[in-house]
Amino acid sequence: MSSDFPKVTEDQSEFEPKESKDKQREEVPEEESIVNDYDNYEYEDEYPVDRAGVVEIGNEDSDSQYETSLAETDTTSLTSSVFNYVFENGRRYASRSFGTESFFPNDEEEQKRLDLQQNMFDYVLNGEICLAPVRNARRVLDLGTGTGLWAILFADEHPKAKVIGTDLSPIQPDWVPANCKFEIDDFEKEWVYKEKFDYIHARYLIGAVKDWNALLKKAYENLEEGGYIELMEFDAAGSYSSDDTYEGSVSESYISKLTEAGRRSGNRLDVVPEFAKYCERAGFEDVIERKFTIPVGTWPKLPEYKKIGAIAGLVAHDGAEAYGIALFTKVLGMSEKEASEICKTAAREFLDKKVHHCYPVYVVTARKGPARAESSSAQRC
Ligand SMILES: C[S@@+](CC[C@H](N)C(=O)[O-])C[C@H]1O[C@@H](n2cnc3c(N)ncnc32)[C@H](O)[C@@H]1O
Repeated sequence: MSSDFPKVTEDQSEFEPKESKDKQREEVPEEESIVNDYDNYEYEDEYPVDRAGVVEIGNEDSDSQYETSLAETDTTSLTSSVFNYVFENGRRYASRSFGTESFFPNDEEEQKRLDLQQNMFDYVLNGEICLAPVRNARRVLDLGTGTGLWAILFADEHPKAKVIGTDLSPIQPDWVPANCKFEIDDFEKEWVYKEKFDYIHARYLIGAVKDWNALLKKAYENLEEGGYIELMEFDAAGSYSSDDTYEGSVSESYISKLTEAGRRSGNRLDVVPEFAKYCERAGFEDVIERKFTIPVGTWPKLPEYKKIGAIAGLVAHDGAEAYGIALFTKVLGMSEKEASEICKTAAREFLDKKVHHCYPVYVVTARKGPARAESSSAQRC
């Protein structure tokens, strides 16, 4: 998939790197690092991105390859209770019909943000939809699918695969590829799939999972031998800057409050660097951890990094309230006014070019042994 992200118009010769940044390359192998030179900062007056980069999914697609998407499933029947959304702090949250309280909204604003984020993941993975070698996967599960965009793109690229996206919220589009279905279900409850999967994908679930060990164990049990799991996640708690502009910033204080609230609520946000260990503990083999670095905002000088930073800045800006407001009020006991003020101040700073904020994104892939030779899924996606 190629990104529709608007081109940056500045004279690109101005953004040539002046020197290599060996320190960054030491931390992240070159081929896995999308950001490896931050030291040629260029300041601009205007934020150069509009929302034209948002990937739109309409309901009116008349392509006969597309079918209505919501499945009456084996795992749960779709009852009207999943539409009993919770309205708090001016935002809309998932129904509590599964007994799970969601701290992150599912309203249109949040859906647009999730879809915008696909452009960022696209840059991170260099246009690939995934990194696990699963070109021939037949049964694919996307946990916490959100708007279902990843599941739809994967189904489009892999017409022989049957892709199921699950989520607490019925916020997926009605018209999707015929090989893609959505189920409304709670992945922290028992899984009762009749058939195993070749590939299980989980992206951006941080703060939504209480027990990663249990989740990975269920994933392991529900994979065919030779099948793969892939986890892609921001490590916001691992945010930093190489020039100390992040340290002591409002963004740092906001993220440390989020991390504390995550810990207290039992949904840790600082768990991402432990994913590889969890995969090994669940029994997976060939565990590979890849670590990418994302700049937040348009402060990097090099155009590729500026582009990805522009999306990351907007995603963080729009996500500041989405992530903070419920956790700060319900878990940290702040008033709505205080929580809202902290979120707004952090949101503004995520676009401030003086703060050279970066955070790591981890992609962990792992295989359920041993059927490597005969595995039909053992090819790159
Ligand atoms: C931040 S969104 C990420 C969506 C999608 N994976 C993506 O990358 O765009 C997290 C999603 O996980 C869903 N979720 C959270 N807890 C869940 C649970 N226990 N079972 C199923 N879905 C859950 C939320 O409803 C939300 O749509």
